[in-house]
Amino acid sequence: MPASDLVSSFLRRRVDPSLERFVRFAMSFELRDPIRWALASHRRDAMRRTAAEFVLRAQALAGAVVARDAGAIESYDRLVAAAIDHMRSLRTPDTSRLTALYDALDQRLYRNDPELLDDPAFPAAARSRGLDGLHRLNELLGSYEAFLLALMPLIELAEQSGHTPVRIHDLAAGHAGFAVFLEQRLGSRVVMEASDIKDEYLDLGRARARELGAEVAFFCEDALAIDGPRERGVDILICTQSVHHFPPGMVARMIGEAARAATTGVLIADAERSWLFYGLVGLVSAIHGRSWVLTHDGMVSLRRMFYEEELGLLAALAPSLPAAAHIETGTFLPAHAFVRIACVRGSR
Ligand SMILES: C[S@@+](CC[C@H](N)C(=O)[O-])C[C@H]1O[C@@H](n2cnc3c(N)ncnc32)[C@H](O)[C@@H]1O
Repeated sequence: MPASDLVSSFLRRRVDPSLERFVRFAMSFELRDPIRWALASHRRDAMRRTAAEFVLRAQALAGAVVARDAGAIESYDRLVAAAIDHMRSLRTPDTSRLTALYDALDQRLYRNDPELLDDPAFPAAARSRGLDGLHRLNELLGSYEAFLLALMPLIELAEQSGHTPVRIHDLAAGHAGFAVFLEQRLGSRVVMEASDIKDEYLDLGRARARELGAEVAFFCEDALAIDGPRERGVDILICTQSVHHFPPGMVARMIGEAARAATTGVLIADAERSWLFYGLVGLVSAIHGRSWVLTHDGMVSLRRMFYEEELGLLAALAPSLPAAAHIETGTFLPAHAFVRIACVRGSR
């Protein structure tokens, strides 16, 4: 047997089970990033002040953005980027030494380095291995269970509105682990679709769905257009752990498009940036995922992800949300945030 196979068999049999036990044990302490939570009330305030300052200018561009006018989209994206930068530049009025230290560390956290997953020149097989590792990490961290908890209110809302089974589309689904998980967990209550811009990533999902007998329809589509789900009819659009790949203006436009396409609602969930998880995820990805792409991108991502309050700001600036749209944000362990938009309207 080649040496590399011996090493990987040793890791699988001896190291993985211990690491998994360690991660579950560590998670039972419900670790929270102290910097993120010490600054939470300041960030909520910064979000409200920034929304008040930028929302009218965003609304003035909304009609032309929805009509896909290239000039308006460029101005809108610039405006939303400026709003996020403005929100990040506001400093906490709390002058205690500890808060000042947290604030200084937080200022140094955000960094927008490129990810290998987004580099078309990086070998496709290594990228796919990285995404497969991400699926296993999601399972280990209980991320799918957490996404489901955040999604359930929308599923129940769709059912109460008579949309049964509930048609759910997972945007930028990658390995489609969550779409397959939902189909397995909810069975005939849902009809699942998953899309991604890279067909090679969806192949991982196709293989897993075949193996488990899960019915998921796969589409190679751009998450920012949403024409496919709209034409096929969709109740809920979801997007997990992907919006940090997009500039803020694109996220806000995607939220608007998704809310207008779905009969019931939209859930966007992603991890939050964090110094604490920067270290932990790097370590666990390297040992458990055994993928340089996963380790590199995990660490890069944890410095470029949005905070809950930033996702809230992007939803507040989203163009042409339906009049009945109700925006909620929240967080869940280990280090995730979501924005959920309920926007019930008639038929598909
Ligand atoms: C980190 S993976 C997330 C995969 C999965 N949703 C999860 O929760 O683990 C990010 C995914 O976003 C996809 N992506 C990036 N830009 C996209 C776009 N414009 N349209 C659709 N998918 C895109 C990538 O191909 C990749 O599969």
